[in-house]
Amino acid sequence: MSALNPYRPGIFISFEGIDGAGKSTQLHAVVNLLQAAGRKVVLTREPGGTEIGEKIRDLLLHESMRPPTEALLMFAARQEHVLQVIEPALLNGVDVVCDRFTAATLAYQGGGKGIPTERLDAIARWVHPGLCPDCIILIDVPPEVAAQRLAQVRQRDRFEQESVDFFARVRAHYLQQAEAAPKKWLVVDGTQAPDVVQSIITNHLSNVLLEFDSK
Ligand code: TMP
Repeated sequence: MSALNPYRPGIFISFEGIDGAGKSTQLHAVVNLLQAAGRKVVLTREPGGTEIGEKIRDLLLHESMRPPTEALLMFAARQEHVLQVIEPALLNGVDVVCDRFTAATLAYQGGGKGIPTERLDAIARWVHPGLCPDCIILIDVPPEVAAQRLAQVRQRDRFEQESVDFFARVRAHYLQQAEAAPKKWLVVDGTQAPDVVQSIITNHLSNVLLEFDSK
């Protein structure tokens, strides 16, 4: 366990999915699992996670803007997040559970809004060279299911108001990313009952932890 070895870097886990996939409950379950294993954990989110990042989040979620502006602001917030929160935690042996990371920019601004992947990859290499989550959990739901869930949300933000077609493109891009790196991604069917989703995720992470600790 990293708690026994303070010089060991923490594990970096990110959660992904289209709006309405049901990430929130699962994020907390993972934090509980890691803490129960005696690990220190930071739970954070993107865009956001720092003072400046939360201000940028507010702009992104509520002000209309062009897709390139949106992509660059996502990365601007991420730069501060990586430098202020993620890297220091990992270097100190603290695990990071992050509600979205660069895979979201590839899926939303790339798949959803048509910005070429190579361009986003180049910015990602500049903003966080060599940093990638150890494990990415995709809670996968069809956009029609997500739309039904989002219909219950009273004040939907700019992204939550996007069309079913948009979310279908985002979902397809996520699934494409997962298929390209199956060792890194866990795709969970988010239409199952939340406790079923939770047990699939916790089983998987228990194995990831064993593998991580044996390195
Ligand atoms: P959240 O509601 O899951 O906190 O995420 C905020 C919104 O930002 C969500 O609709 C997805 C979107 N988003 C992107 O479009 N690109 C990104 O890189 C990130 C991190 C989030």
